[in-house]
Order: sequence, then C-alpha cells, then structure tokens
Amino acid sequence: MSTTKTPPAAGNPATTSAAAAAATLNEYVHRHETKSQLRFLTCGSVDDGKSTLIGRLLWETKVLFEDQLAVLEADSKKVGTRGEKIDYALLLDGLAAEREQGITIDVAYRFFSTDKRKFIVADTPGHEQYTRNMVTGASTADLAVILIDARKGVLVQTRRHSYICSLLGIRHIVLAVNKMDLVGYSQEVFDRIVGEYREFSKNLNFEFTPIPLSGVEGDNIIARSVNSPWYNGPILLEHLETVELDENRLRGEAFRFPVQWVNRPDLHFRGFAGTVAAGVIKPGDKVRIQPSGREAVIGRIVTADGDLAEAVPNQSVTLTFTTEEDASRGDVISAADSPAEVASQFKATIVWMNEDPLHVGRQYLLKLGTRTTPATVMRVDHKLKIDTMEHLAATHLELNEIGDVKLDLGRAVAFDPYTVNRDTGGFILIDKLTNNTVAAGMIQHALRRSQNVHWQALAVNKAARSETMRQRPCVLWFTGLSGSGKSTISNLVEKRLHAEGRHTYLLDGDNVRHGLNKDLGFTEADRIENIRRIAEVSKLMVDAGLIVITSFISPFQADRAAARGVLEPGEFLEIFIDVPLSVAESRDPKGLYKKARKGELKNFTGIDSPYEAPTSPEIRIDGTKITPEEAAEQIYAYLNERGMLGGSL
Ligand code: ADX
Repeated sequence: MSTTKTPPAAGNPATTSAAAAAATLNEYVHRHETKSQLRFLTCGSVDDGKSTLIGRLLWETKVLFEDQLAVLEADSKKVGTRGEKIDYALLLDGLAAEREQGITIDVAYRFFSTDKRKFIVADTPGHEQYTRNMVTGASTADLAVILIDARKGVLVQTRRHSYICSLLGIRHIVLAVNKMDLVGYSQEVFDRIVGEYREFSKNLNFEFTPIPLSGVEGDNIIARSVNSPWYNGPILLEHLETVELDENRLRGEAFRFPVQWVNRPDLHFRGFAGTVAAGVIKPGDKVRIQPSGREAVIGRIVTADGDLAEAVPNQSVTLTFTTEEDASRGDVISAADSPAEVASQFKATIVWMNEDPLHVGRQYLLKLGTRTTPATVMRVDHKLKIDTMEHLAATHLELNEIGDVKLDLGRAVAFDPYTVNRDTGGFILIDKLTNNTVAAGMIQHALRRSQNVHWQALAVNKAARSETMRQRPCVLWFTGLSGSGKSTISNLVEKRLHAEGRHTYLLDGDNVRHGLNKDLGFTEADRIENIRRIAEVSKLMVDAGLIVITSFISPFQADRAAARGVLEPGEFLEIFIDVPLSVAESRDPKGLYKKARKGELKNFTGIDSPYEAPTSPEIRIDGTKITPEEAAEQIYAYLNERGMLGGSL
C-alpha cells in the first residue's frame, strides 16, 4: 500500500527555469481558481478512525509538504499507535493538548485538492457536549461523511450526527463503513449496516451513499479495492469529486440577494453589494426589494473585473437599478415573480450554544442574512431528545440542546424556510451584552397569527391624549436592590407630580405581584417575565398619556434594555437608586435579607441572585448621601429642566 510511498513535493510545482516555473505556476493557479469547491464535514468518534481516514485523503491527494511529512514520520515513531507505520491521525489531531488527551476538540478545517475539485474538510468531534462545534462545521457543508465502525454498526451517536446533518440542511451523506479489514471485508456485515441505516434515516432530508472502506489499509478511498469485489458503488474520492454541490441546486431556485452594503462613491453611482444566495440574475430582470415590497429593474452587475452578463449563487457582486429605487443593508433583493416571504414571527428550530440557558422573554439580537434585529423567544414548544428523536416538554434550553421555538422580531423581515435556502432561512442569536453567538437557528415557517393580526389604526392617539393632559408621557424606571429606597423615593416623586396636577401612575413590585404578576416567583425566568409585562403595561399607559413610575428591582441589564426598547426614544428614563448591598442589608425593612442569609429565602437579589447595576442610567441617585426627599427633588428637577413637565408640549 501507499504507506511506504515517497512523499511527493506538491508544494513545488516547477523546478526548471524561472520563466517556465512562473508559467506553470500561473496555469496551476488558474486551474485551481476555476475548480469547483466541495465543503464537507466528517462525523464520528475517536474510535471510528475518522482522523486516520481524513489524514489518508490528505496524504494521497498530495498536498503535504515534505517538511510536514518529515515531522509526521518522526511523530509517528514517537507517539503514534501504529508502530513504524505512519499514523495518519496525527495529521489532524494537530494540537499537543489534543494528542495527549487522544481526542479532537473544536473544528479543524483542512484544505486539499485534486485535478477535479478543491475540498474544505471540517473535522469536528463526535461527543455530545460538542454539538456546538458540529453545528459550526455542518452549517456550510455540502456533504457529510458519517463514519461507522463495521464491527459496531449503527450507534446512538450515528443517529445523533445524522439527525444534526439533516437539521442543518446537508443533502448528501456518505455512510463510511470503516474498518472493513477487521470484519474480513464481509458483504453481509456491510449490507446489514446499510439496511439498518436506511430504515433509521428514511424520514431524514438527505440521500446517502454507503461505501465499505478501510482508512488504515486504504481500501476504496482513492482507488477501488481488490478486497471487496462485491462492491460496485462509487469509491470515496470519486464520489466527493462528482457529488452535486449545493451551489448548483441553488441556481435553479428563485433569485435572492441579501444586501451587504450600499456602495455610493459619488452622486452618479449607487450599487448594492452582496453575495447571491440563490438563483441567477441578469441586467433587465425585474426584482422586488424586501421587506418593503417595492419593485425595480436590474441595471448592471458590477465586479472589480468588469460588468457581468449574469451572476450566480455564491458570487459577490454589486447590483444597480435602472430607476431611483433604494435598498439598504439587510434588505433582500428577490425575483419579482417569486419573492421571499415576509413576516415578523416565526417557528424555528434552534441549537443552544451558550453556557447560560435560553430564557423565554429575553431579548437577543437575531442575525438573518445581512439583517440584524432584536428578537425574543416567545415560547419553547419542545426540546428534542436527539438519540431517540422524541419531543420533550421544555420551558428553556441548555447548552447543546435543540428545540423548536416561536420567535418574535417586532418588525417584518424577508426570509425563506431553511430547507429551501440556508442563507435566507438560517440565523444566529447574539447576546446583546457579551456579543457572543448563543444559538444557531433554522426558520421553519412564519406564524400565521403575525400575518393576520394587524395594527388597528386608532383615531385618538398618544399625541392627542397627551395634549389634553398637557404633559409629555414617559416612564420613570426605578431600579435598585431591595431596601435601596426605590418605593419611598418613587412615592415622593408621584406625590410631587400629582400635587401639581400631573397625570401619573405608580407600578410597584410588591403590589403588581399581588395581581397581574401573582403567578410569578423569583427565578431568573420569572423575573424576566415580570419585567417584560411591566414594560408592556407601561407602554400602554404611556400611550394613554400618563407619566408612569415603575419601582422594581429589575436586576438584569438585558431586561431593562428590552423595556427601553419597547418604548419610543426619549420616553424611558432609567433611575438607578445606588446603595451598596451592605447598606440595603443593614436597613432590611422587611426582614428579607435576614431570612435570605439563613437560607429560608432562595434567589434573593444581592445574596444568591445577581444585581447588574446600570452602566449609564439617565439619573443616578446616591442613596447613601442624600435623603429620599432630596432624591425626589433631584428627579423632579431633571424632568423640569428637560421640558418634560412644561405646560406646552
Ligand atoms: S424583580 O427582580 O422581579 O424586579 P420585584 O421588584 O418585582 O423583583 O419584587 C421585589 C420585591 O419582592 C422585593 O422588594 C421583596 O419585597 C420581595 N421579594 C420576595 N422574595 C424575593 C427575592 N427572592 N428576591 C428579591 N425580592 C424578593
């Protein structure tokens, strides 16, 4: 076998004269640049021989540099598991720490190419706790190689990997039945495994190609093996070189172009730059700009190398319109006769990838195509037990869990179901504070209610009401620890405003929790819901023309930010009653800190539940330096100075 072959010097395409070298290199580069590219993923566990298989592909397709090979040979002798033979797995398990642990963590991308195609392999670990990594590798792959140890057959993890591949829209699976050498190249074993896999995968959205092979011996990987004369199907490399790319399928779909940025160098040129997500576009084609729905006609397709007669999927271009129509970043330019759907609420499947669980009601940023917009998960419909594909009841999702959820974006966006297009139907959720990606999601469909519940245009509106009341409605949002003085100060503020004839309403934590929110406790999820409802009630009251005063601990910054987002700019004033925990605790007006310290009260803010202080509140009151009366005066003065209380509006 080729394990003894001299390594080729592929990094060095020409060694004769400099001119000849340059010509060969140019030709080589050109051929390389115009080749199609297949992205694939390998799934399997440490023992399935995945790294050995990929290592062999890299070796045999001649991409290794000699020095890399020299190191490999030396390493194989030192730490390899195969005696004097080369241990291909070492090519992949590059990091020293991983070698010592004997497992692969994170996603490693490898590149290789043959005369026919270029390849990018994402190598991801198979353990359950690394679902996150697998999702990362799978979301852009055309194909997945799922490894099975011929001695073990279809395992729980085979099912898990297959399910995730299907979920992430991979349409081609290679079922690599590996280690055939260890089962005597038995056709019977192979057929049994294939039969079992066919039965299991019949409801999944991919076609699969089973191949009997041996990574260690090299059977059916690059060349057809004499050891399995009964096998007539494709061998691995041949299949990888010829399988249909998703890019080709997308050519046949309706045109989609998420606008990345608007290119406007001078008054004469306005172009919309981005990458074609589906379909083919030509000058003169009619398009629709979504979500607004306006129509336009394509003028030019501009690139750095000149104008094109057409643009195809994955091509980055700048489009111009023949008319003055405008589009902005985040819009989708679609075929006019076959536009994307437009909605503000979706059902989606998400994979939660963060240590902090997903909370219903919390606001995240959703990035769909080139559009980023705030989004809230309204409910978790169920989570999935991947191993058995059962649906389990759930109220939240934890790290690496997958579930179906309902999402509200607050504004309409253009999209396609993920199964149709991964670019216009796939999204990520981002934590607003940390900027971390916390979930990957796949849109299933729009919620019909979001398309059927319309805003009722009312004749008497906020402006009319506030004019009659001669005040500018707003929310004075108090936040601070229990015992900080929120209730006392907010009461004084309301008294003062009321005394001069203002129309006010005070929403206080303890009181609201006796009625509207009596179903809520003090878990993080309940507090999020508590604040969400208060924000919505405040919005209605502001609409009614009132000055609303709210007094809630509201310990989480994200939820206060979401409350601010519910109101219009300038309507939300955050007032931080700042006292250290020690001061609040020494006051302990309701004796709750004492109880919490004794362990009789759980999740008490400041003790065993966090308080995230505001970083830039409109008003900060130092509760250790001034009296409640002075604090109320300071707040009143703030409102007065900004004309919030002026008789005329
Ligand atoms: S919030 O965190 O959801 O904003 P909210 O302001 O409504 O809290 O309610 C806080 C009040 O509930 C406190 O002033 C206190 O009287 C009472 N309380 C009872 N249990 C707790 C608890 N575990 N943590 C904080 N406050 C509690």
